[in-house]
Amino acid sequence: MILTAGSANLDFVVRVPHIAAPGETVLGSDTVLMPGGKGANQAVAAARAGGKVAFLGALGNDAFADMLLGSLSDSAVDTRHVRRVAAPTGAAYISVAENGENAITVAPGANNYLRPGDLPELHEATHLLLQLEIPLETVSAYASAARAAGVQVVLNAAPACALDTALLACVDILIVNEGELRALQGAVCTDGDLEELTAAVLARGPGTVVVTLGARGCFARSGQKTHRIPAYPVKVIDTTGAGDTFVGVMSTWLAQGAALPEALQAASAGAALTCTRAGAQPSMPGRQEILRLLADHNAGQR
Ligand code: RIB
Ligand code: NA
Repeated sequence: MILTAGSANLDFVVRVPHIAAPGETVLGSDTVLMPGGKGANQAVAAARAGGKVAFLGALGNDAFADMLLGSLSDSAVDTRHVRRVAAPTGAAYISVAENGENAITVAPGANNYLRPGDLPELHEATHLLLQLEIPLETVSAYASAARAAGVQVVLNAAPACALDTALLACVDILIVNEGELRALQGAVCTDGDLEELTAAVLARGPGTVVVTLGARGCFARSGQKTHRIPAYPVKVIDTTGAGDTFVGVMSTWLAQGAALPEALQAASAGAALTCTRAGAQPSMPGRQEILRLLADHNAGQR
């Protein structure tokens, strides 16, 4: 079982001709409400990809929470560990530009109330999936408990944040984009190419680091071994949720025994499919759709 501990947000999405600059006003589309939050998104992506998944998170006592729980349950995510707290359910305000790029502001609300003591027994879990939209103290406590219990710790260090070595030492697989890769090293290491930066991060503890590169695919380093996987070319409508799909699909493939390069291929295919549709959770593919894209791609290469 993959336990995903993290945020759940209701996304308020507006399409705009371009992302507003500081001080600028842009006129966009009507607002569309969609289920999101990096934690819940990764749980949904992993479950749709065929994984057995439970979600640990904190929601408010409002109608938004009911919508988010509905989306998790519809994707067969186990929600029995979700806490309801006296704070508004997390919300994200998302502008999506014509080219599919976005800008996101998160109001964490209830997500800030997920505490170190909320972690359930880990005996059923093989993997713990974490991101950084809940308190850092909680993330660190969960990572070290999972490490002690022999559970694989997968950390998506998003949004960008400098991380201490005590946390990184508990991480088996770290997943970041380029900005997050530089940010997590703090002031120590802002220069350097992917080879150097990922080697520096591995020296701080994680067994594997994966860097997602958008349309350029991804780069991974595991010890001395490196892998480069190209992206699947697709017509991009909305990149929201692509990173989360990558993490969720990769975790499901790994939990089912796939080798890293194979899991990265599937993750990359899943992320590409998510970019072809609007929103985060509503845009995430099922296992069959991922397998079809992988098969079509392999057939095209023959
Ligand atoms: O990664 C995309 C997600 O980031 C959105 O669903 C939004 O809720 C924010 O958490
Ligand atoms: Na999307």
